[in-house]
Amino acid sequence: MRRKIIAGNWKMNLTPREAVDFANSIKSAVDTDKADVVLCVPAVSLAPVLEAVSGTNISVGAQNMHFEDSGAFTGEISAKMLVSMGVRYVIVGHSERREYFAETDEGVNKKARKALAEGLVPIICVGETLHQREQGITIDFVRRQVRIAFLEISQEDAVKCVVAYEPIWAIGTGKTATSEQAEEVCAAVRQVLGEIYSVEVAAKIRVQYGGSVNGKNASELFSMPNIDGGLVGGASLKPEFADIVNH
Ligand code: 13P
Repeated sequence: MRRKIIAGNWKMNLTPREAVDFANSIKSAVDTDKADVVLCVPAVSLAPVLEAVSGTNISVGAQNMHFEDSGAFTGEISAKMLVSMGVRYVIVGHSERREYFAETDEGVNKKARKALAEGLVPIICVGETLHQREQGITIDFVRRQVRIAFLEISQEDAVKCVVAYEPIWAIGTGKTATSEQAEEVCAAVRQVLGEIYSVEVAAKIRVQYGGSVNGKNASELFSMPNIDGGLVGGASLKPEFADIVNH
């Protein structure tokens, strides 16, 4: 049985002080018996939020990392640095990074491999544009993203990964995929993972849905057989995040 995992992606929001205040306000409101809870906060807020949630079962994640260990990569942060702070998760390949920062499937694979090598859990994001959906190529496109993201990842490491299916047209638009649409693609993600590894391995990998998840639609989405929780943007910055976890 896969345990649900609900991750908040705060994106580029809140100062460190505001981040601590918000983390304090939700830490008593979320029931971590219901799901694994992860707060993916801006890099400057990692240390203070880690301190704010210490002693709870809430984990902290980064929103990005570099795939090299160290070196002349101005502005970048390595997996080792994140691990040394107590960070447990890292989002890789979010569609905003693919779109605005030219991240490629190959780069996402390098980041996922490095994250795993250092002991971080990568939350690997995949998802189609509206145009791709309208062209009827959603499943082919997402399958390819998954295949490349998992290249050279062993099955021992694959089971640690989380995949987040986030249709780009549903992100920040208030336009959620129906639970059937989300389930169809999450099932396809699991199928391709089954082809790469085995059905048994694929059955252990958690697949989230992301895109306008809120306190009202979460329980229906998360009740689908192949949806193991959510990657939540806008609603993760509101008290509503607790409703999403506790639903
Ligand atoms: P929204 O929940 O704001 O649509 O964002 C989803 C997302 O991109 C999470 O990574």
